Amino acid sequence: MKTLRDRVAVVTGAASGIGLAMAQAFAAQGMKLVLADIEQARLDAALQGLRAQGATAIGQRVDVADEAQVQALADAAWAEYGAVHVVCNNAGVAAPSLMTNAWQAPIADWQWILNVNLMGVLYGVRAFVPRMLEQGEEGHIVNTASVAGLLTGANPYHVSKQGVTCITEGLYRDLRRAGAKVSASVLCPGLIRTDIMKAERNRPAEFGAATDREQLPGAVRAAVESFDAALEAGYPPEVVAADVVKGIQDDRFYIVPAQPFLQDLVNVRMTDLLERRNPTMPPARPSLATQNQPT
Ligand code: NAI
Repeated sequence: MKTLRDRVAVVTGAASGIGLAMAQAFAAQGMKLVLADIEQARLDAALQGLRAQGATAIGQRVDVADEAQVQALADAAWAEYGAVHVVCNNAGVAAPSLMTNAWQAPIADWQWILNVNLMGVLYGVRAFVPRMLEQGEEGHIVNTASVAGLLTGANPYHVSKQGVTCITEGLYRDLRRAGAKVSASVLCPGLIRTDIMKAERNRPAEFGAATDREQLPGAVRAAVESFDAALEAGYPPEVVAADVVKGIQDDRFYIVPAQPFLQDLVNVRMTDLLERRNPTMPPARPSLATQNQPT
């Protein structure tokens, strides 16, 4: 989809980080925007900021883990603009369980994180794709996975992101088979400076209290702190957004704005698989921060 001007983009998780940067990049291309987020105050601030820069934008509070709310988002988008061309299913959450192992991550984390990161993307596909096909115009779906969606780990975050990669690869083929003018990309960022490790600010009460970091085993707490530092030293979200704009324009399926050392880990994993080799052990986690050199 080469032309973005005057077309309509819907972004979930648009109040912060990568979602906000994508909304700003789309606005800079002259797109009209629908911003969705669970956090009303930050959504309002994002909307205000974009409008102040001259963007045409509406906002809607949406919990992507609730299919009815995602359907209502699609209703609102078509009601406002009469068309939708780009959908970024981007809202996502993480928790310190990212650094635990297969037998430690709390079940409530699995449920919450899979609901938002995996089911949220699926709900977005179900709400928007049929209407975009019916609309018959060019379109593009961008599902935010992560470089974690190209790697593996026995924790809810990695599993949710692997699922997003799987759904999106399948979606791409399904759209091609259907001869659709709509295409798809999976977005797999590396370490990006955002509030993702503060995601428990949006953790619903039904999944229990946010993680008390003081209660984590020392090694896990150290790994979490190292990961926080690596994110802080990571690429700014604008780098991701620029790659997404280009990825849509070039119809590039894998959009992977990730640090070279992470891309190397993906290569190692894929080679393990191709050569039927047992999984290679990654480098020790605390080295993450020092290996993260933004370009
Ligand atoms: P962020 O925390 O800055 O932004 C995420 C946004 O999603 C927030 O505005 C939050 O309010 C919203 N959100 C959370 N739960 C929601 C729900 N149930 N319904 C609607 N909105 C909800 O974090 P970031 O990093 O910008 O995250 C965006 C996406 O990028 C996520 O899917 C994340 O997993 C992914 N990602 C982030 C990376 C990073 O290093 N920051 C790396 C790879 C992927």
